[in-house]
Amino acid sequence: MSKINLAIVGATGAVGREMLKTVEARKIPVNRLRLFASHRSVGMKLPYQGKDIEVEELSETSFERQDIDFALFSAGGSISSKFAPIAANNNCAVIDNSSAWRMKDDVPLVVPEVNPHDLRTHKGIIANPNCSTIQMVVVLKPIYDISPIQRVVVSTYQSVSGAGMRAMAELRSQTEAFLAEKEVETEKFPYQIAFNCIPHIDVFLENGYTKEEEKMVNETKKIMGDDTIGISATCVRVPVFVGHAESVNIQTKDAISVKKVRNVLQSAAGVKVIDNPDKNLYPLQIECAGLDDTFVGRIREDNTINNGLNCWIVSDNLKKGAALNAVQILELLINKKY
Ligand code: A2P
Repeated sequence: MSKINLAIVGATGAVGREMLKTVEARKIPVNRLRLFASHRSVGMKLPYQGKDIEVEELSETSFERQDIDFALFSAGGSISSKFAPIAANNNCAVIDNSSAWRMKDDVPLVVPEVNPHDLRTHKGIIANPNCSTIQMVVVLKPIYDISPIQRVVVSTYQSVSGAGMRAMAELRSQTEAFLAEKEVETEKFPYQIAFNCIPHIDVFLENGYTKEEEKMVNETKKIMGDDTIGISATCVRVPVFVGHAESVNIQTKDAISVKKVRNVLQSAAGVKVIDNPDKNLYPLQIECAGLDDTFVGRIREDNTINNGLNCWIVSDNLKKGAALNAVQILELLINKKY
């Protein structure tokens, strides 16, 4: 397999660092690797294959030599809006982790286990979905393949790493301050996150939902290729460092037994079932952090509606929710498997 020239934009961030680790762990055949971040990180070195790679400042000329084949972006929406088209115009295929391009008609929004075929129409920019959406659709798709899904009601329990490195530092410093009975300082979150849950992720919209909740609705429909699925989301930030959990209520068109759902999820790509109430076994954020799979448990019938089902889904938001999904897309592009 020929080797690629790869860039990571936002390499010093929580997701960027995970992207770098994932590229190394999955043995992506890289010829030249470039790491980009802001001017603040110039001179910083990040480890890759036993060497230290220097971080460069991202600029409008970073892609002009047309020698970067692929770029993984995770530096926020405004950087992606400006620099992803510059990269794409210089023959570099971009896999973008921000929300800037996700809902554009000519930009595929891809979860490899669900809609790899959507890559066929890409025009240089491919969007990586929102972390909470990815782990949910990985579980919804195998169920949908037995019977179309009519409605989903989801409540999320999202870790602070989804808000970046500074948010993780804030949970740590607030926890220390609280336990030392000192004043707790809040910067990244609207309220204290240590020992608290905040039902507010991203900005509020006029309809009373947040943008994070709207992302789950719109992105799920786009990835599943079905506009008719009714989705209602409540997104909550919880004082967990890594790993998002979701309580999901699903209504299918046809009746499916819990046993059948469990069987189908057991053999689904990227999914592991942990579901044994007799032994108190169900997925936990602290146990799923650092792992690649999406974990599902507490699978049970909801007998208050027709064809209803409840489950609990957990995954590492930095891995499957971001870096791993992006690198899996990269693998599909390199191997032209779509
Ligand atoms: P830097 O570390 O130099 O600020 P996180 O989401 O964990 O906060 O990470 C955000 C990432 O986006 C970091 O790598 C950060 O780099 C990068 N970033 C932020 N602003 C810019 C910018 N203007 N140009 C390039 N990268 C940026």
